[in-house]
Amino acid sequence: MELERVTRSYVLGSVQVTGVDDVSLRIEVPRFTVLSGPSGSGKTTLLNLIGCIDRPDTGRITVLGHDVGRLQDDALSDFRGQHVGTVFQTFNLLPVLSVYENVEYPLLLARVPAAERRERVMALLQEVGLADKRAHWPGQLSGGQRQRVAIARALVRNPALVLADEPTANLDSRTGEAIIGLMRRMQRDKRIAFIFSSHDPRVLAAADEVVHIQDGRITGQGLQQPREVAA
Ligand SMILES: Nc1ncnc2c1ncn2[C@@H]1O[C@H](COP(=O)(O)OP(=O)(O)OP(=O)(O)O)[C@@H](O)[C@H]1O
Ligand SMILES: [Mg+2]
Repeated sequence: MELERVTRSYVLGSVQVTGVDDVSLRIEVPRFTVLSGPSGSGKTTLLNLIGCIDRPDTGRITVLGHDVGRLQDDALSDFRGQHVGTVFQTFNLLPVLSVYENVEYPLLLARVPAAERRERVMALLQEVGLADKRAHWPGQLSGGQRQRVAIARALVRNPALVLADEPTANLDSRTGEAIIGLMRRMQRDKRIAFIFSSHDPRVLAAADEVVHIQDGRITGQGLQQPREVAA
């Protein structure tokens, strides 16, 4: 994953606000990388660019060897669906679908045949420990359980890259710890890249690599020995 001199700013009326400013960054995969920085520093902007949800004003973004800036909108959303899983701070489950159906949804969009869908959804629900809750509605689950469903959904198409924007921010510390452990285990078992944003020191300590961002600029990047977290 590589960004070369990437800039993205927002126009608010007559004011231009910088999201990320001339960022060059290389993240090797598969690794567990955390983007760390204060509120407003550009973490979400950067994740949206890496995740092909947004496009830069200038600069080049290469994800898994693809120059994603050159892809047309349809090709970009196909690329995202196939290679990138996303986990949000507020879980973003569809409230009218069951747990099972939420995880199945990306496979329906990808026209995966029914038997294979069933196999993959059940395997992932087992892995996140929610097979017995498959018929529940999201509204009947705790925050930690909802985030587990969101993780299962992000992984169901076997992406090479999973992006998570402050995935533990709405969870109490014990539940957050379990979610970090689950993501760490998934990252190791499946050898995929996880890129997270967080200001939670426990999340930072569990990472292989920390990238510091401030005022839209990268101020540091380093590898570390990750703290062990029970899965
Ligand atoms: N849609 C938008 N319109 C206008 N300005 C925006 C928009 N999104 C972000 N910004 C601005 O871009 C800058 C970076 O925002 P961003 O959301 O990327 O920060 P962040 O590090 O994710 O913050 P937080 O920790 O609060 O989530 C901020 O100054 C923000 O106000
Ligand atoms: Mg943010």
